[in-house]
Amino acid sequence: MAFAIVPYIFLLAIFLVLPPSTIAQSYKNVSLGSTLTTSDVTKFWPSPSGEFAFGFRKIGNGSGFLLAIWFNKLKEKTIVWSANRNKIAPDGSKIELSIDGRLVLTDPNGQEIWSRYTASAGLAYGTMLDTGNFVLATSSSAILWQSFDEPTDTILPGQVLNKGTRLISSFSDTNVSSGRFELLLQDDGNMVLNKLNYPIDAANDAYWATLTAGSGYQVIFNQSGFIFVQAENGTVVNLVSSSNKINSTTRQLYQRAVLEYDGVFRHYAYPKKSSSGRLMEWSTLYHIPDNICLVIAQAKRGVACGFNSICRTGTDQRPRCDCPHGYIFNDPNDKLGSCRRNFPEQDCKDESRDVEAFTIQEMLNTNWFFGDYESYQDVTEDWCKQNCLSDCYCVVAVYGANKVCWKKIKSYEEDMTNENEMILAEWACDCYRRKELHLLAGDDEEAIEGIEGFEKLLMVAIWCIQESPALRPNMKNVMLMLEGSVEVSVPPDPFFCSV
Ligand SMILES: *[C@@H]1O[C@H](CO)[C@@H](O)[C@H](O)[C@H]1NC(C)=O
Ligand SMILES: *[C@@H]1O[C@H](CO)[C@@H](O)[C@H](O)[C@H]1NC(C)=O
Ligand SMILES: *[C@@H]1O[C@H](CO)[C@@H](O)[C@H](O)[C@H]1NC(C)=O
Ligand SMILES: *[C@@H]1O[C@H](CO)[C@@H](O)[C@H](O)[C@H]1NC(C)=O
Ligand SMILES: *[C@@H]1O[C@H](CO)[C@@H](O)[C@H](O)[C@H]1NC(C)=O
Ligand SMILES: *[C@@H]1O[C@H](CO)[C@@H](O)[C@H](O)[C@H]1NC(C)=O
Repeated sequence: MAFAIVPYIFLLAIFLVLPPSTIAQSYKNVSLGSTLTTSDVTKFWPSPSGEFAFGFRKIGNGSGFLLAIWFNKLKEKTIVWSANRNKIAPDGSKIELSIDGRLVLTDPNGQEIWSRYTASAGLAYGTMLDTGNFVLATSSSAILWQSFDEPTDTILPGQVLNKGTRLISSFSDTNVSSGRFELLLQDDGNMVLNKLNYPIDAANDAYWATLTAGSGYQVIFNQSGFIFVQAENGTVVNLVSSSNKINSTTRQLYQRAVLEYDGVFRHYAYPKKSSSGRLMEWSTLYHIPDNICLVIAQAKRGVACGFNSICRTGTDQRPRCDCPHGYIFNDPNDKLGSCRRNFPEQDCKDESRDVEAFTIQEMLNTNWFFGDYESYQDVTEDWCKQNCLSDCYCVVAVYGANKVCWKKIKSYEEDMTNENEMILAEWACDCYRRKELHLLAGDDEEAIEGIEGFEKLLMVAIWCIQESPALRPNMKNVMLMLEGSVEVSVPPDPFFCSV
């Protein structure tokens, strides 16, 4: 009897050591009426080589599912595209390529989460290609829709970005939602990296560009592993990245290029065979910008970390964001966000304020760009410290090797990230232009009675929200204007003034 049991256990053991996803699925076109569900993630739509797959991936700590495309032969199952990064699908969701020509993702209640229509265009089948592109096609294989046209944060060899197409980074390394950065091929042909005014999706704050306005036409990631901006006549006008250095092409390497949560665009490779002598993992071939901590966007602010946060590049070339001593993250769950003061501010109104209550915290090899309101040449470090400490407007002083002391304060522009503020500012601007100050004052009687003073206040405010930082008055001038010791001139229209 005992002998009969052995082969049975043996057989069982073989099945147990095989992870479910390595069970080969034979390739076939996805026919109309096909479905996949989150309840069985071992089923997916593979490409002919099996290198890519389309289906559901579980994300986070079981918080839900992403309808995605991933590298299916890698143990990491690296995701290269997703449909619903901002609307995670709950367990029990389903994707269907319907008979009436729709690719539709629905939750367990039948509510639509995401869909693409190819209605009445003669959809015949869907197919996961070996390039990593999922396409919907007619019976004569004309493409009706393809995932390559709607990238998330990644491009693959063979992929082309046309004007107006963009990549948006993830929110963080663990959160796949749309984040803070975009890579955009602008309509003028310039390829730019922008910091988005999170959470509003407004850009125009480029921190890197190919400077190909007027000549750029497409961004191409070709099969030899080159990423470049090409002119309409086919000339390469800017070579963004190349895998040349490592003497390998897509035949030996899996490749992808991602705009990551930290604002860096990285070109990665992974050997296809372990005999290549390279580590079996994703390694960076190339990245832009060179050092994200030193990058300043057009709006004159650091890119990688939030307001008041200090950026340091780790040995892995990734930025780390830390709050200075005495400051804490505004949102404890968002380590890339802004830091706020965690102690009472020095009070400029109170003459008898106690300077002794504050100390200077030294930070070596740290700089604060911009926001200077005063600087002194040829002074000692000690003098600089004392001067800042006894000045209630001084939050940070930077002391440099040339014996220069720069005093810095929080600048207004950093606060302009709130959508409501923007809308309020726009409305304020409109009211001011149309002389409808009473509208703005609402039923604030004090404001209505002193409408002239109120108009001055508003003019100062409009000066403060000028698009060009150079036009904005510094805090000291603002104080002087408000006190009345400096005349307030008529401000130019800020960019959002819709006159
Ligand atoms: C997929 O469909 C196209 C168009 O009908 C056909 O040419 C191709 O052979 C099909 N491929 C497979 C694997 O069924
Ligand atoms: C998953 O859960 C663990 C333990 O509860 C936690 O430490 C980790 O941060 C969680 N990860 C994510 C992505 O939420
Ligand atoms: C991801 O980040 C977004 C934006 O902050 C947030 O709304 C969402 O709840 C986060 N998702 C998870 C799973 O933490
Ligand atoms: C192709 O276009 C680029 C950019 O517009 C231009 O500089 C170049 O001279 C053109 N080359 C040819 C051969 O027309
Ligand atoms: C990819 O682009 C590079 C640079 O323009 C070029 O030298 C190479 O031949 C291209 N490879 C393919 C497969 O088109
Ligand atoms: C690239 O690889 C090929 C084949 O492995 C080799 O013959 C060639 O010398 C290499 N070129 C460089 C620049 O390393």
